Amino acid sequence: MARQPKPSAAPWVPATHSLSVLRAAVPECRGCDLYKYATQAVFGEGPQDSKVVMVGEQPGDEEDVKGHPFVGPAGRLLNKAMLDAELDREKIYVTNAVKHFKFKIERGKRRIHAKPGGIEISACRPWLEAELDAIHPELIVCLGATAAQSLMGRDFRITAERGKFHPHPWAKEVVATVHPSAILRALRENYDEEYELFVRDLRVIAKRVRELERHA
Ligand code: URA
Repeated sequence: MARQPKPSAAPWVPATHSLSVLRAAVPECRGCDLYKYATQAVFGEGPQDSKVVMVGEQPGDEEDVKGHPFVGPAGRLLNKAMLDAELDREKIYVTNAVKHFKFKIERGKRRIHAKPGGIEISACRPWLEAELDAIHPELIVCLGATAAQSLMGRDFRITAERGKFHPHPWAKEVVATVHPSAILRALRENYDEEYELFVRDLRVIAKRVRELERHA
């Protein structure tokens, strides 16, 4: 029996280094099945000349409705932590490993986040690769395991590697930290410590960004 081709966004990704051309093409993507259920594809946002790209997992419920990355609860926590770490979000291109919201329906109506699988992460990678190819960042920051898996492979472990810089073909370096949703999910007694560890990672990243800016 003939093997089914692996799902991939590649046929929908235009060969261009223009973020606006890529952004205009993403709503047509049929690279995996997630487009059937999501409201819209959510593309990355930020300056094309960013030295730093931050990669999350996938749009959440609020991002899916509004069409922008990290504008929901996880995004608000990320903004606060970035402020505390003195990392300027305006200068950073923010995107996701998967461009459509994957969810389950609870009690017939509430949409609950569902983790994207390896098939969806790899199907969507051509979009991420095209964004990174257009931007040529010096540093990629993976927020959580899905982004780290997309960029560093399935064996990469955030717990062991958080805050460490690794060389990468798509940027000078890649660094990973936890996803802000993991802090939102932390037990109340662990919240402050988890938040502080996240800000500590972001401070290390902010220091590296200042070094990159000095050597530009
Ligand atoms: N979580 C993500 O990973 N990305 C978003 O854009 C929102 C929530």
